[in-house]
Amino acid sequence: MPAELVLKNATVIDPTGARPNTDVAIADGRIVEVGENLDVEAPTIIDATGLVVGPGLVDLHTHLREPGREEAETVESGSRAAALGGYTAVVAMPNTEPAIDSAAVVRHILELGTKALTDVHVAGAITVGRQGKQLAPLAEMAELGVRLFTDDGAGVQDTRLMRRALEYASGLSVTLAQHCEDEALAHGGHMHEGEWSSRLGVPGMPSEAEELMVARDIALSRLTGAPVHFLHLSTRRSIELVRDAKAKGLRVTAEAAPHHFTLTHAETQTYDTRFKVNPPLRTDDDVAAVKQGLADGTIDAIATDHAPHTQEAKEAPFDEAPPGMIGLETAFALAITELGLPIERVLALLSWQPAAIAGIEREHGGPIEAGRAANLVVIDPTATWTVDPSKTASRSRNTPYTGRQLTGRVVHTILRGDLVVRDGEATR
Ligand code: DOR
Repeated sequence: MPAELVLKNATVIDPTGARPNTDVAIADGRIVEVGENLDVEAPTIIDATGLVVGPGLVDLHTHLREPGREEAETVESGSRAAALGGYTAVVAMPNTEPAIDSAAVVRHILELGTKALTDVHVAGAITVGRQGKQLAPLAEMAELGVRLFTDDGAGVQDTRLMRRALEYASGLSVTLAQHCEDEALAHGGHMHEGEWSSRLGVPGMPSEAEELMVARDIALSRLTGAPVHFLHLSTRRSIELVRDAKAKGLRVTAEAAPHHFTLTHAETQTYDTRFKVNPPLRTDDDVAAVKQGLADGTIDAIATDHAPHTQEAKEAPFDEAPPGMIGLETAFALAITELGLPIERVLALLSWQPAAIAGIEREHGGPIEAGRAANLVVIDPTATWTVDPSKTASRSRNTPYTGRQLTGRVVHTILRGDLVVRDGEATR
């Protein structure tokens, strides 16, 4: 059988398990054959001995900044960073300017996404302008394929409005995702409230500001029967609340960001704004709880919260600088390096579990078998490399991991059969 691209002699890992010494043949954007020693001709044959082929990674939480803050990121530059990080799909967050709160803005992003290096899906806002006052037109956005809605950057504060939104979302078969932060309690805080905020004299946000909203939305999910996805959980008790809700059979899912399992609030002691993020970096005990939640299945996905900011913006004093750090090119390696989980589990957390939450499992994260779209990542699980922000494809450089040595490297990324990343370099 003729093919366009063949990956030879890889370990294939997907939701069905691991297959050593396996070839994957690709034509017309699809996988056409998978097996040992395939007898197939192709213009491009890649020796993948020692490498892992998995379904492409899926990021539930990417800030692409377009429209409005193109100096920090664009759909093109963000998707390029994503492809280099092994992603074949990202979900763009709606806290843009204007917010993604209407069919017109959704269409605009989807149109830009057609030229991107990954698939670009959109999370729509729950409320108009993310102002928390009035429901956004969820139905007209859902009609364009939007499956996740969130006011990320802020939580929906009004409990009655959140209940209505959940009831509405339930009828549309879409999922609401919450940035859990009680604004009244977190008000004026710039870091985790605890030992380091006291020492540094920086106002803090208590863990309870996150946990109150997690508890509230678990209650609202029970009341309405609608699913809730919890964004970037960062505290031990948030994770315990989700574990308990899942044990009771409630329809909740959760994600954690790499910085919440790799860094603590002690990093902020130099007032370095690269460590300012929201939810803030927390304690050693919280980091241990996030790792445990990822290991035991309480947390379903690792999501980057890739939040590019210009150098100028991050040069402001700690209490004035915007929160956020870039993360698309380091997420996979941080997970391999820091979690101590088998690569099958890491891929579940970065690929097929988030694909299911995003509602894109037909195209991404699925089993590697004939007939499926060829959205794949090829990984060297043992290669080491050092994080160098000058090499990022993002328009922003605000990584806290400069100089860190990591294990696990993305070698190739394949989007519908197209080698968008080859040997660690973008091909277009
Ligand atoms: O650190 C963060 N940055 N947290 C958010 O919720 C928003 C994000 C951003 O958009 O910069």
